[in-house]
Amino acid sequence: MEVKVFGVIGAGQMGNGIAQVAATSGLQVIMNDIKDEFVDRGLKNIASILAKNVEKGKMSAQDRDAVLGRIKTSTSLKDLSAADFVVEAATEKEPIKFQLFKDLDSICGPGAILASNTSSIPIGRIAAQTKRPGKVIGMHFMNPVPVMKLVEVIRGLPTSEETFKTTWELSVKFGKTPALSNDFPGFIANRILMPMINEAVFCLYHGVGTREDIDTVMRLGMNHPMGPLALADLIGLDTCLAIMETLYDGFCDSKYRPCPLLRKYVEAGWLGKKSGRGFYEYL
Ligand code: CAA
Repeated sequence: MEVKVFGVIGAGQMGNGIAQVAATSGLQVIMNDIKDEFVDRGLKNIASILAKNVEKGKMSAQDRDAVLGRIKTSTSLKDLSAADFVVEAATEKEPIKFQLFKDLDSICGPGAILASNTSSIPIGRIAAQTKRPGKVIGMHFMNPVPVMKLVEVIRGLPTSEETFKTTWELSVKFGKTPALSNDFPGFIANRILMPMINEAVFCLYHGVGTREDIDTVMRLGMNHPMGPLALADLIGLDTCLAIMETLYDGFCDSKYRPCPLLRKYVEAGWLGKKSGRGFYEYL
């Protein structure tokens, strides 16, 4: 199936990154969020990253203008009726995603594919909210989206072969390398990454090391580009907690229990980089 108009729900750090790579690959993009200020901020972020690419000589000013010209912003879900393929990148909360998929199912044309950028909610459960479960799939981008090469494609039990093929080919068109995960809580990426981050928080909680020492061990000892606590701040501590809860509930296994310190930070509104404070301070 050929995708021409690509919709993105959510203009936050994941949504605007996805809109940027889609528009860069030549697709017409509709970037939707609930408020004008959110879509304006998302578009500003894209413009500033593209401006840096022009400064670095990685892109011409003409190409930048063409990419920006392919992105339309929207605050009404009805605008998504024009899209052949929609990726939902809203807050990682089941009731929000479920309602969005119900609404998109009634708004979008019958041939449109509805993908979720969920980091851990089972795709089968999201698909069951719609009357087109064969056209629902997981398309999980990594943060920062323009830089990270992976797209984790998650095939739910009802996902059709055509939906899978279209999503796989679209990931390649975006310049990414897709990897296939079956539909289990956390999929592959967060089944492995999040328990590591959670264990780093336990190390801080138990006083095994300071935040700096924990991150230094993993950066210099394991060659990770960032330490796990700095990475948690980049991802968002609320997102990390939500993923741990999905793993814990999904497997009913105590090895996935979220560290109480992680919960305490989230309850205090220390959500990481986006709120100015997490394990580190961002002024
Ligand atoms: N948006 C766009 N471009 C960005 C960017 C952003 N937010 N942050 C950095 N970049 C670009 C820089 O402009 C720079 O580009 P050039 O090479 O053209 O100059 C390049 O990325 C490298 O950046 P820096 O030199 O500033 O810094 P760095 O080398 O330390 O790289 C990093 C920064 C790419 C974030 C790197 O530290 C990294 O790979 N960290 C790990 C990220 C990671 O693990 N992401 C996955 C998180 S899990 C997830 O997203 C899924 C989930 O479900 C939780």
